[in-house]
Amino acid sequence: MIDIENMSSKTAIKEQYKNSDNLKLRKGLHEKYSVNKVGFQKWMFGQYPFRAKIKVLELGSGRGELWNYYFENKMLQGYEMDITLSDFSDGMVDYLQQNFQGGKISVRKIDILNIPFERDTFDLIIANSMLYHVKDIDLALSEVKRVLKKEGLFYCATFGVNGTTRHLFKAFDELDVPYNHEANVSFTLQNGMQLLKRQFDRVKRCDYEDALLIDKVEDYLEYIYSMASLQGLDRKYYDTLLNYFNSQKVNGYLYVPKEYGMFVAGKEYKPDKDTDRNEEKTWTTD
Ligand SMILES: C[S@@+](CC[C@H](N)C(=O)[O-])C[C@H]1O[C@@H](n2cnc3c(N)ncnc32)[C@H](O)[C@@H]1O
Repeated sequence: MIDIENMSSKTAIKEQYKNSDNLKLRKGLHEKYSVNKVGFQKWMFGQYPFRAKIKVLELGSGRGELWNYYFENKMLQGYEMDITLSDFSDGMVDYLQQNFQGGKISVRKIDILNIPFERDTFDLIIANSMLYHVKDIDLALSEVKRVLKKEGLFYCATFGVNGTTRHLFKAFDELDVPYNHEANVSFTLQNGMQLLKRQFDRVKRCDYEDALLIDKVEDYLEYIYSMASLQGLDRKYYDTLLNYFNSQKVNGYLYVPKEYGMFVAGKEYKPDKDTDRNEEKTWTTD
């Protein structure tokens, strides 16, 4: 019997992210088998509107992987931005402090549901692959909106249900493997726009095209089981899943679709500049 309530609870999420091991394993699979070699984190980092002296807050930073690209880019460091990385897990905060604290980067323990900053503080706020863990999404987004400056922008990445999730759920259904359908689909590319528009005037969706081509199915299974505390998947189904995915290989590879992307949200819509006219086509304001 699957305990859905427990799996989406704060305790289960904290257990999942008590240190960076699960996250590292899952990133490893994407690095090894993704068809798009740019990489999702690098693609996202390239989209952020960095400029001199701005104040940046990242929520749910995890292993802070985005910020490796910051250190690769001397020009950005010259911008002298004030950057705060944060997470609500002690293990992640320790990791971030050991790897990023210093210079213009500070690290804080922060729960997105109660952000300890004044109204209108940040020019840029980032919350990637974490909003689907938050139970009260309206409270989380209203907290982000509160600490975002009037002209500031909020970037949040998430997954779509037509990627890895659908692939996995189809396998579980066909094999009669019990799992928790609900735990991780509370903020996706499909429902994110609607949820963000309750708080923000302008919201735009940007997609990252990618897929996985996997030759060693055991790696995929480790990835799946690394999410087990959230999905409620029993280890006894390991061999069944291994045989099933191996039987689906074509020319030695298992194809797994991916659907990832991000939303950009702003507080105020002001199409008053020439440069904004093109944006009107993609920014949703109604
Ligand atoms: C899947 S990881 C994403 C890490 C990173 N943003 C990335 O994209 O690689 C989710 C992170 O969100 C954190 N998290 C979950 N709920 C949170 C909350 N309410 N407030 C702050 N952080 C939270 C977890 O501890 C974990 O580090």
